[in-house]
Amino acid sequence: MEKKWWHRSTVYQIYPRSFNDHNGDGIGDIPGIIEKLDYLAFLGIDIIWLSPVYQSPNDDNGYDISDYYEIMSDFGTMDDMEKLIQEARKRDIHIMMDLVINHTSDEHPWFIESRKSKDNPYRDYYVWRDGSGGPPSGITSVFSGPAWEYDEETGEYYFHLFSRKQPDLNLHNKEVREHLYNMMNFWLDKGVSGFRMDVIDLIGKEIDHNVLTDGPKLHDYLQEMNREVLSNYPTVTVGETPSATPETAKLYTGEGRNELDMVFTFQHMSLDEVDGKGKWALKPLNLRDLKQTLGKWQTELHGQGWNSLYWNNHDQPRIVSRWGNDREYRVESAKMLATILHMMQGTPYVYQGEEIGMTNIVFDDIRDYRDIETINLYNEKISEGIPHKEVMKSIHVKGRDNARTPFQWDRSHHGGFTTGTPWLEVNANHKEINAEDALKDEDSIFHYYRKLIRLRKEHDIIVYGGYDPILVEHPEIFAYKRKLGNETLVVVANFYGNEPELSLPEQLDGTSCEIVINNCEGASGRPSGLKTLRPYEAIVYLIKH
Ligand code: NOJ
Repeated sequence: MEKKWWHRSTVYQIYPRSFNDHNGDGIGDIPGIIEKLDYLAFLGIDIIWLSPVYQSPNDDNGYDISDYYEIMSDFGTMDDMEKLIQEARKRDIHIMMDLVINHTSDEHPWFIESRKSKDNPYRDYYVWRDGSGGPPSGITSVFSGPAWEYDEETGEYYFHLFSRKQPDLNLHNKEVREHLYNMMNFWLDKGVSGFRMDVIDLIGKEIDHNVLTDGPKLHDYLQEMNREVLSNYPTVTVGETPSATPETAKLYTGEGRNELDMVFTFQHMSLDEVDGKGKWALKPLNLRDLKQTLGKWQTELHGQGWNSLYWNNHDQPRIVSRWGNDREYRVESAKMLATILHMMQGTPYVYQGEEIGMTNIVFDDIRDYRDIETINLYNEKISEGIPHKEVMKSIHVKGRDNARTPFQWDRSHHGGFTTGTPWLEVNANHKEINAEDALKDEDSIFHYYRKLIRLRKEHDIIVYGGYDPILVEHPEIFAYKRKLGNETLVVVANFYGNEPELSLPEQLDGTSCEIVINNCEGASGRPSGLKTLRPYEAIVYLIKH
């Protein structure tokens, strides 16, 4: 594959509402981000994925856009945004905007027009269907309840896969696509470097045939977008594609396809869900499933496409609480999880706070939660007679506010996030877990992430090496090799708090061998010398043959 600069980059996701509040209104903002650019440059990241900052009534925290050309007043002004782009560039940091084009807000002028009458010129910008026989189909919204909303004005239903304030756009309408391309040009002309495309696998949906993801026109539209917009700038793009398989990932990202640069796979994120029952039906993770799933993506995409590597984002619980141990082994397990991911092929994404090992939040009162998905789920389950405690159990594990509590900058009141009242409570553990302390401690998770990010820049093998799993059947150890030329990288990680035994062949040691990174002191200098691993221990060897 042709080499690209972002192959060795690391992306940092900012959820602006929770990152840093500059003006003391309790809500993070763009000037707050500018203040922290030096922190990000020190961490070593190259790209910021900025969750939506467009004007929005905030039914879904900015994923419901009412004006694509304005900045949300909570976050600042267009001048602030321009300054952010400039200041980031001074530090060699690119900005990747969130692009939400599957739907708008119901307060977007297009929808306000669209709902006025059946013959309004904007009617066809959205998905309207006859209402005489009840909802046109049984499709349900991701945020609970039916995906069809009846609108009195014209006696028809409109389609919304997310909240009723997020009507789906009709991308089969060419005029809609043209408007969206103009808007993308507007932001690229302002100097952003690309887009993270929200639920982009939905844009070819064929509602009347119950086809949501991977509609027949999906790839045509992405190729058109590439032709009309992306190919005219040096962009970097990532598609949020919950439905992607390695096969379809090659369609999105394969060389010569001219669509996207990389995708987000969701397959590893659903391994702790009961099959087919959705995100709230919990089951324990089986490590073999995780190894098999991540390994499959590594081998199948090698040389044929490009993947993103992630454990966290604003929709997922915190990884150290999910698959690590956020109590006695918080530091070790956060580093172990980071090692497994960052030594793979793909572009790693770090979600704000992950680099200091921030943890999930537990509120007992539903009124402390802000996320629409969580609140709707709670109301639905309670109305079905499920006890409060049981519903809260799922929310504590999977609710999106786990990842959205404000960034913990220091030990002070509200973790240094705001001088006002935070829109969502700061986790009380900011006294122990915060960036200020992490920066001072050389052994912190922060400094470990810094090193992982730097290693990717220094070693081609991390970026381009092939992937071979080892100890495939081991129930507790995640291990693999990467290979390039006369080098092998061996990654060995204990996924749990036990001390499992292992034995690796001497051939693996090569002629010379060095440890490039590890999270527990005093590890054997050679893979074959490892007889056991300590809780959550992770070691990476670079071997020459
Ligand atoms: C995916 C986004 O990541 C999520 O936060 C949002 O609620 C939905 N798409 C709808 O835009």
